[in-house]
Amino acid sequence: MALVASVLIILFVSLVTPKLSALSSNYYQNTCPTAEYAITKIVRDATKKDNTIPAALLRLHFHDCFIRGCDASVLLNSKKNTAEKDGPANLSLHAFFVIDAAKKAVEALCPGIVSCADILALAARDAVVAAGGPYWDVPKGRKDGRVSRASETSKLPSPTFDLSQLQQSFSQRGLSTDDLVALSGGHTLGFSHCSSFQNRIQNFNSTHDIDPSIHPSLAGSLRSICSGKNKAKNAGTSMDPSSTVFDNTYYKQILQNKGLFSSDQALLAHPKTKSLVNKYASSKEAFYKAFANSMIRMSSITGGQEVRRDCRIAN
Ligand code: HEM
Ligand SMILES: *[C@@H]1O[C@H](CO)[C@@H](O)[C@H](O)[C@H]1NC(C)=O
Ligand SMILES: *[C@@H]1O[C@H](CO)[C@@H](O)[C@H](O)[C@H]1NC(C)=O
Repeated sequence: MALVASVLIILFVSLVTPKLSALSSNYYQNTCPTAEYAITKIVRDATKKDNTIPAALLRLHFHDCFIRGCDASVLLNSKKNTAEKDGPANLSLHAFFVIDAAKKAVEALCPGIVSCADILALAARDAVVAAGGPYWDVPKGRKDGRVSRASETSKLPSPTFDLSQLQQSFSQRGLSTDDLVALSGGHTLGFSHCSSFQNRIQNFNSTHDIDPSIHPSLAGSLRSICSGKNKAKNAGTSMDPSSTVFDNTYYKQILQNKGLFSSDQALLAHPKTKSLVNKYASSKEAFYKAFANSMIRMSSITGGQEVRRDCRIAN
């Protein structure tokens, strides 16, 4: 009986666990033991020259994982089809050159071994560390995909989403509401263009011009940045006041109604998500721990088939 029960339990667990493929921490231990350090060094050096690099690398990995799994489809160049990187929602995707440099370094050490998808996952972790955030051990062994379609970027969550739309977008990828709240903390880094929060500061709905859930002083400053004759080309603002430092300021801002996107402020909409926002706002350690765990879960959504020789071109 005990045997039957345990077989059933194993069967059940394997059915309900989302695509957790055979990734492992020591995947390149024998085939390319120095790859990881080479990537870390390139990310660290690039960050020293330009402190906006960590944000870009973290977002690249997120976009990669949310479309076709973490298969480096976000890195492919357009050919006959327009690729993800040239599609809508590519605003502020940058730092591709850092991934190219990392691939070049790793190919010189051990040609044809390390996938571009693994390089992205490692670079995202190194980016968070370079910005002062937590370290985690990255499981490796992802394969690269052969397809990238601009049209599929419409499957990314939108900054205008409410809580249930966000939950749906995450659960479709095997990610929980806890993952949603922790991973949204990635918005402690980086920059946003006006178009991403324009919905909140003008023509919000038929009764309110401005989203009533946005702090009036923030609304005022966003409106002055994003409208009028002085509006700069590529106008926008930093994601939080300490946007090159990976800290828990993002959650503190939300508690003051100073989240930038509807999707950020939406985390207060339910008691469960609100209590997590409270927890991470009051404990950087709790945020770091949750973020690292959720990053491992997000970056374990796999999808590819090959190890690309050039991250921009399928073999
Ligand atoms: C929860 C759903 C999410 C939505 C709706 C969302 C949306 C956005 C939008 C609209 C931007 C600004 C683009 C621009 O105007 O230039 C942005 C930037 C960014 N996002 Fe998200 N995002 C989400 C989740 C995530 C996750 C899970 C991460 C990483 C863990 C992440 C990391 C970033 C970073 C670092 C930036 C700044 C990029 C830069 O400065 O180069 N986002 N996001
Ligand atoms: C984003 O897409 C536009 C075309 O829609 C393209 O011109 C631009 O180069 C793309 N940006 C990046 C970083 O690839
Ligand atoms: C506009 O938004 C506010 C705040 O979310 C809401 O209370 C109000 O009912 C909305 N008005 C309409 C017409 O949807």
